Amino acid sequence: MVQIAPSILSADFSRLAEEIQAVAEAGADLLHVDVMDGHFVPNLTFGPPVIKAIRKVTDLPFDVHLMISNPDNYLEDYAEAGADYIGVHAEVCPHLNRTLTRIAELGKKPVVVLNPHTPLCAIENVLDQVSMVLIMSVNPGFGGQKFIPGSVEKVAELHAMISRRGLTLPIQVDGGVQADTIGPVAAAGARVFVSGSGVFGHAQGYRAAMEEMRERAREYVRQGG
Ligand code: DX5
Ligand code: ZN
Repeated sequence: MVQIAPSILSADFSRLAEEIQAVAEAGADLLHVDVMDGHFVPNLTFGPPVIKAIRKVTDLPFDVHLMISNPDNYLEDYAEAGADYIGVHAEVCPHLNRTLTRIAELGKKPVVVLNPHTPLCAIENVLDQVSMVLIMSVNPGFGGQKFIPGSVEKVAELHAMISRRGLTLPIQVDGGVQADTIGPVAAAGARVFVSGSGVFGHAQGYRAAMEEMRERAREYVRQGG
């Protein structure tokens, strides 16, 4: 019911393969892969060659989060590199319906992503086209930022919007998610949690980090917030 997607942005890049195997063994459900272009977001990470290389290391589904300005130009490259989910930001897709259709045609799971300031109405008409919706709970670009509290209400509204349309669609949250922030957003309806520094920076190790988050999320969901 609760899925954790460690973000390799916070991994030790000099030991990337080992780090990925370690989170897989520690119980990760998905691997969150942050692609940044230094244009849409003020930071740069990596592209298809690195994804292709790490694809050999694990069977975990790759949840590729494209924080790039012209995703349409690169969808094939990320599909070929081994993405399972391909997430695009609504803010950079003037023809969002077309972009999501293309991802599905490539045999991948389309994900639509919203920055903290972008209203939900931007994606209302594409909800039936996606496998997951990602609500950013920080301004994208960096790991280790603070969770924006307003994200909780946004997730609750999205959850209601999805139910009104009779859809069953997981809501994912990304940014500042760890044991002390996961509860309210889980109670609001999020089920897939990206965590970078919360997993890779946890003092008791990766397994403890993910178990603690899952436990906290379940507690809040049980109590209904
Ligand atoms: C932020 C990225 C996140 C980031 C999360 O731009 O999209 O996936 O790695 O890191 P934490 O969990 O440290 O906020
Ligand atoms: Zn991300």
